Amino acid sequence: MHIQNLISSSFLLLLSFPISTTATTPRPPYPNRTLAGITVIDTPIVRDAQAYARRYCSDSTYNHTMRSWLLGLLHLSHDPALASKIDLEVHALGLILHDLATNHSLSAPFVTPNRRFEVDSAIAAADFIRSHPDGKKWPGWRVQRVWDGIALHAEPGLALYKEADVFAIYWGNELEFSWERPGGERKGVTAEERERVLQEFPRPTLEEGGRGNVFAFVAWYCKYKPESTYSEFAFPFCCFSVSGWDNVLTSMAVDTWMQPFGELLVPGYSAVGHRVVDGSLAAVGLNMSEILK
Ligand SMILES: *[C@@H]1O[C@H](CO)[C@@H](O)[C@H](O)[C@H]1NC(C)=O
Ligand SMILES: *[C@@H]1O[C@H](CO)[C@@H](O)[C@H](O)[C@H]1NC(C)=O
Ligand SMILES: *[C@@H]1O[C@H](CO)[C@@H](O)[C@H](O)[C@H]1NC(C)=O
Ligand SMILES: *[C@@H]1O[C@H](CO)[C@@H](O)[C@H](O)[C@H]1NC(C)=O
Repeated sequence: MHIQNLISSSFLLLLSFPISTTATTPRPPYPNRTLAGITVIDTPIVRDAQAYARRYCSDSTYNHTMRSWLLGLLHLSHDPALASKIDLEVHALGLILHDLATNHSLSAPFVTPNRRFEVDSAIAAADFIRSHPDGKKWPGWRVQRVWDGIALHAEPGLALYKEADVFAIYWGNELEFSWERPGGERKGVTAEERERVLQEFPRPTLEEGGRGNVFAFVAWYCKYKPESTYSEFAFPFCCFSVSGWDNVLTSMAVDTWMQPFGELLVPGYSAVGHRVVDGSLAAVGLNMSEILK
């Protein structure tokens, strides 16, 4: 390529991707406000994400997502090494939008009949970013981090080995549950800090069905979206020998943690016949009684 062409094509590249502060990872000083005593990033896309969650989530889910964001920021304040790697807008959107598709109605926006709710929410969040005036300028990797953080927010087996943003989004949500679990992780968040968050965004008490809500939440998926709940045990050798690696990826994509909730809580629920292992063993004709003799 002639040097002239090179120069003009780089120039065109610059023109088509204008450098914008909203498209890059915000560094201090960034626009901010104080919420529950915590400095939170306050850019238009973060504010609009809150309004979006407020519009599509129930009161208790909205409060949960806001608490998750704030607990996540407290975690970062206690872990400067982690904080230095975090994109605060990605972190904010990953937590504020992580439950967009949790309405318990199959006709609600973002809710599909078959996908797990984390994936429905991740897709809804990515669509929100791509249609937002500032989000349109985001490079693909930032949208992807939000997507991954939301899709994996209940999958420590994967999220904890991903990028810092995904790791921190996982912990923001998880601190809601682990902080009060006996021996559970607190990530340095003190009782006083957490109390201020709870005052700002209260949680239903036990009497108001607080804890029961978590079980009711999961049981709904087991009853009405059972395909999104079966625990698929990805069994690469069997799947590979039967129908190739595509099938392995498919089986991992539908793997969820909800199946035991269905077995415990939902009358008539059974995953037998829906698991990868059910089909694979039969297909390769293994007789386990023979093999394990
Ligand atoms: C928050 O905003 C103020 C200005 O309003 C600024 O002085 C401060 O540095 C900002 N904080 C951060 C962490 O960016
Ligand atoms: C679900 O969405 C419907 C409308 O689409 C709304 O009326 C209802 O309040 C929502 N429920 C929850 C729990 O978010
Ligand atoms: C959610 O938080 C608001 C205050 O931010 C509070 O008024 C409301 O009662 C809370 N809703 C639930 C269901 O806990
Ligand atoms: C599997 O092996 C056991 C024990 O050898 C035998 O009794 C049984 O008939 C075999 N089953 C099939 C389906 O071949």
